[in-house]
Amino acid sequence: MGFSCLQHLPFAMAMVLMLCFFLLNLVWLCWLSPMKMKRRLEKKGFKGPPPKFPFGNINEMRKRAPLAPNSLINHDIHARAFPYFAQWRKSYGDTFVYWLGTEPFLYVADPEFVKLMNSSMGGKGWGKPSVFKHDRKAMFGKGLLMVEGEEWAHHRQTVAPFFSSGNLKAMIDIMVDSTNKMLDAWSKLVDSGTTEIDVESEITRSAAEIIARASFGVSYENGKDIFKMLRAIQQILFKSQRPVGVPYNGILHLRNLRKAVQLFLLSKQVDSSFLKLVNDRRSNTDIQRTDLLGLLLRDGTSEKERRFTSQELVDECKTFFFAGHETTSLALSWTLMLLASHVEWQKELREEVMEATKGETLDSNMLPKLKKMGWVMKEVMRLYPSGPNVQRQAREDIQIGDKMVPKGTNIWVDIVALHHDPRLWGEDVNEFKPQRFREGVQEACKHRTGVL
Ligand code: HEM
Repeated sequence: MGFSCLQHLPFAMAMVLMLCFFLLNLVWLCWLSPMKMKRRLEKKGFKGPPPKFPFGNINEMRKRAPLAPNSLINHDIHARAFPYFAQWRKSYGDTFVYWLGTEPFLYVADPEFVKLMNSSMGGKGWGKPSVFKHDRKAMFGKGLLMVEGEEWAHHRQTVAPFFSSGNLKAMIDIMVDSTNKMLDAWSKLVDSGTTEIDVESEITRSAAEIIARASFGVSYENGKDIFKMLRAIQQILFKSQRPVGVPYNGILHLRNLRKAVQLFLLSKQVDSSFLKLVNDRRSNTDIQRTDLLGLLLRDGTSEKERRFTSQELVDECKTFFFAGHETTSLALSWTLMLLASHVEWQKELREEVMEATKGETLDSNMLPKLKKMGWVMKEVMRLYPSGPNVQRQAREDIQIGDKMVPKGTNIWVDIVALHHDPRLWGEDVNEFKPQRFREGVQEACKHRTGVL
């Protein structure tokens, strides 16, 4: 008996050591390290709402804003969408520190600070928040939105021709074709007596089709299953209340663990579907397309260039799908909503389109003539920006004006706040007034970086 106890002693000791290590690590991650960082930030003059570790300020952020007292359309959305930021701004000003779990975020709604950020070290020294890189791996992996430094420059240089005006013009046929298909389907629905159409999901579907055809040459029908899985990934990441930034949040809560497993399985399936697509294109050498995948596959032909790995190609496809379709479909849905409630602008745009096209099918040469359309799109994206925030992380101590941002600090630029600031846009900031862009963006906004 005594002998058998001794036999298990090394195992028991190893277990105790592992437990001690885990507990010490937990104390360091959840308490000591954030406290140290909090003191550093305070010393540098950054204040904010008091956090409660390990959740930081997450619990206050989860409280919802009360519903608006009436159903009138009101574009004053900042306090409704982000009540906690609106509240903290009143107490701490346009820059303050809040905490997502044990991660410090420097909130920025000051255009001068954004300008200094851009000019500091020529933008070098800023990376993408590690906490999001990890959390959103299933969506973006190591695609353009998440890579940094030289890796970013390599990806960016390779995909740049995709956004050239020549290439964009060549994509117009795809856009017109998908849009016409959608509009024909709506006409049929109306003719058959349907009185309600879910315009947002219809536009999302068309935008997904356009991005998929233009980026990797896949029709919506062929890529339907991948798109469904990609949307499911997005729902898990953004519709659930996972405490992002809290150490071990994926394993310490059963519900989060279930979501983490779901996410892992979906992500594996999506990756292998895209991998098949990549391999099919690789083996089909006679198709020299100039779509995104074509550009990425072509890269690395000269000796000094590095070829993209299969995983990098998959990650870039996912990045373009997410970055490209949600943003445009939101912008278009808001445009239709705002035009529906401003009949006078519908009339203006109809006249402008008729004048530019003379009844012919739209082509790229006609686009410069659509000036008012440009104002309307700018005003829509000012009031309802599809990318409501931009995030960065300081990879080293960075001097911004008279303040030093310590290494490791995350930055959260609140684009919605900037776009709804009466000091930048005037007292009519919450009104839909496309004509404010008549003389260009610089005339509409009092600060160069007040619009992103
Ligand atoms: C209304 C439309 C769009 C809006 C409002 C929008 C907004 C943004 C914003 C704010 C960023 C900066 C993110 C950051 O630096 O952290 C960004 C980056 C990016 N967007 Fe868009 N976007 C739109 C359309 C598109 C489309 C159609 C595509 C692709 C087909 C696309 C692909 C990308 C990519 C790849 C990046 C990363 C660029 C880089 O880091 O170099 N976006 N977008």
